Amino acid sequence: MPRIAVYPGSFDPITNGHLDIVRRASRLCDHLYVAVADNSVKHHTFSVGERMAMVRAAIRGIPHCEVDTFHGLLGEHVKSMKATILIRGLRAVSDMDYEFQMASMNRRIYPDLETVFLMPDERYTYLSSSIVKDVTRMGAHVEEYLPPIVVRMLRRKFKLRKV
Ligand code: PNS
Repeated sequence: MPRIAVYPGSFDPITNGHLDIVRRASRLCDHLYVAVADNSVKHHTFSVGERMAMVRAAIRGIPHCEVDTFHGLLGEHVKSMKATILIRGLRAVSDMDYEFQMASMNRRIYPDLETVFLMPDERYTYLSSSIVKDVTRMGAHVEEYLPPIVVRMLRRKFKLRKV
């Protein structure tokens, strides 16, 4: 049976920290879906279409990996993709509380689904989509942490001039 995994998230936008997890996860499974959450309750900077376009461009060239989206309960989506592995990145101890709550609830509702936590390269320990948006909006350059498409989309979104 092929090992199918889903790596879900808001990806608002995808960073090199997320990409590092995608690369690690793709080596552990036969097929990986990077699933962009389409959650109308949460306010996102980028639309689901924009977030998917950024993920699609960023993961180009990574083997057996594709972008996907989901609405509603993540576990239902994972089941519908015939996946049995749920990938989440763990940057630091501060991520654990939320991640353990989610993993425990998913285990309770979907006992056949295994959450696998992967640790990104230490360069990305303190990287997050929100911090990247905050500093970019204020004119800082953090290109080393972002796929080129994201740099372009952020500049366009925040109406920043190329320097
Ligand atoms: O990148 P994020 O914002 O940490 O991703 C969180 C996400 C989208 C994976 C999580 O909020 C989620 O799974 N939402 C879908 C609703 C759901 O299934 N919630 C219960 C999980 S126990």
